[in-house]
Amino acid sequence: MKVTAIAPSNIAFIKYWGKKDESLRLPENASISMNLSNLYTTTTVEFDDKYDSDMVEIDGESKKGEGDRVIRHLDKVRNLSGLKFKAKVISKNNFTKGTGSSSSASGFAALSLAASRAAGLTLTEKELSILARQGSGSACRSIPDGFVEWLDGDTSETSYAVSLFPHNYWNILDVVVVVGDEKKDISSTFGQVIAATSPFFPVRLRNINDKIMLIKQLMQKKYFNKFGELLENEALELHAIMLTSSPSLIYWLPGTITIMKYVKKIRNEGLPVYFTVNTGQDIHLIIEEKNRDVLLNKLKRLDVVQKTIVNKPAGGANLIQKHLF
Ligand code: PMV
Repeated sequence: MKVTAIAPSNIAFIKYWGKKDESLRLPENASISMNLSNLYTTTTVEFDDKYDSDMVEIDGESKKGEGDRVIRHLDKVRNLSGLKFKAKVISKNNFTKGTGSSSSASGFAALSLAASRAAGLTLTEKELSILARQGSGSACRSIPDGFVEWLDGDTSETSYAVSLFPHNYWNILDVVVVVGDEKKDISSTFGQVIAATSPFFPVRLRNINDKIMLIKQLMQKKYFNKFGELLENEALELHAIMLTSSPSLIYWLPGTITIMKYVKKIRNEGLPVYFTVNTGQDIHLIIEEKNRDVLLNKLKRLDVVQKTIVNKPAGGANLIQKHLF
């Protein structure tokens, strides 16, 4: 049976960085995110005895290295279901991979839903989130609706994501500003492994639970400015860890810094806008929906801006009827 799923990418306001269990992808800390309406992956999976080996195609290319990671995920689904057949997997991102827009999150969330259903399993949201986490940590947050918390947990069964608020809870936007099309040279999977080599990492972990509590309160009250200050500060803290780990990780391009400085400038002039950045050069600007056009008009005038992608808060992973093969 062919099954197709669509899943959003997500942007973390409080980040996942560092793992306490490498193979299970158990994070050092909880994280908070929002699903993104305009960055998503669609994946069709079919298990059948007509396939001699697993075939994986992502964005029109058949994959080997990355394919292996997908195949390991298919093996997990085969283990869970008892199914022995090989599979065909076709996956499409509606955006460029490897620039900081978290295609692994949407990719493994869509794969987990499509593959588990295609193997005859009907997993609960929690079980799906646990499965997705094992493909890529942040993928577990792309399963539930809207604004999400990934509970860190000490075991595989207790480390999964839950919806804090539905996607229509708060009219805020994530405007992704694309400042380059270079692929990152160091994967976030490797960056996660070396996080603890930064001398600042223990300091981060000491304060992280308070941060999680605070951001949830600010989201509950919809205090946009305090929320924005906290998420921007968090992004800079994450990059301070990256810059000071061994080897050091520098994901920014000059355009990234230009936008950071520009955000501070227009904020001082009265526009409430805040930034966050992941493992890539592209930068995410968080604003209230009412300020969308003002911001977009300003960004249009900057040379470093190649493209903007406007995201509303989105629902989680879903099944769709239109298959990719
Ligand atoms: O799930 P991964 O291994 O792609 O790591 C995601 C890391 C960050 O995007 C930097 C932070 C996060 O919480 O999304």
